[in-house]
Amino acid sequence: MTAIVTLPESQRYARSVEASKRVHWEVEADVIRGRRFDTYHKFLPDGLTLSHEFSTLSHAEKRFVSQIQGRTYANVFGLVERFINAKVLELSAAHWFGDQHALEALVGFSDQELKHQELFRRIDTMIGEVLPPGYRFDIDANTVAYAVLGKSTWAVLALTLDIELFTQTHYLESIDHDANLSELFKDVFLFHWKEESQHAILDELELVRHNGEVTDAQRDRAVDEFIELVAAVDGILQTQAKADAAYFAATCRRPVDDAERRDIEAAFLKAYRWQYIHSGARQPHFVKVLTGLITHAQGERIQSALATLQ
Ligand SMILES: [Fe+2]
Ligand SMILES: [Fe+2]
Repeated sequence: MTAIVTLPESQRYARSVEASKRVHWEVEADVIRGRRFDTYHKFLPDGLTLSHEFSTLSHAEKRFVSQIQGRTYANVFGLVERFINAKVLELSAAHWFGDQHALEALVGFSDQELKHQELFRRIDTMIGEVLPPGYRFDIDANTVAYAVLGKSTWAVLALTLDIELFTQTHYLESIDHDANLSELFKDVFLFHWKEESQHAILDELELVRHNGEVTDAQRDRAVDEFIELVAAVDGILQTQAKADAAYFAATCRRPVDDAERRDIEAAFLKAYRWQYIHSGARQPHFVKVLTGLITHAQGERIQSALATLQ
């Protein structure tokens, strides 16, 4: 017998499935559409690259920085989507013989994350065709995924909700009037956000469901694990800020002394922390969901950990 449980949660899963089907897209036919990147356009908007922080760079050099950050954007998302997809597949087991709308929603979620990883691999390759050689992204997605999945489900879901909500902030930045932003990259933000907005709904449903299954002590430990995961993300960002500053210095066709390279590295790190940590941590819906699950003291532990990453 197939049991379709008619609860408000079930309807939310069902609505998410319908919405996902309505916005469905394909990498080549809808996003790429035979286009190529060119170096006359910025790939990431100023609101994400924090271009004003790169105070020693010329206008053209800031544009180059946005292109480097665009390539790193593709790589970071490709990386986080590896563990997100594995966690979603694991969570789907809770619905195998239960709410079939929830199961369909999570299977669709997983399918979309596989497609997103394909999109971001494609974007990385396409940017590599127009930028100078020497770019590096040496962080292995599977190694990171194994480490992340070693933490509790509560912590991984909280981080995932954070990530999937900040894609909305990133999309909004990308449609802010900037005539020099790559149309192709704008479409990457648009199409990715269309599906991510559904993922964020599912993350919230799964987090709230799972939250009801953990004890206060388990949740307290999970808050610390969430902080540890954010610190691990920051470690990745520090590694990549160093790599991207070194790549810029090696390919910008003018001398960059050690002091300026350190300034550029600090600006990359500030931009990456904004993109991948603070734009999510300050996202009003994320704050609302998380504070609804934790105590005031736990919230303060999270806030003071975030405050060290400025
Ligand atoms: Fe995604
Ligand atoms: Fe997602």
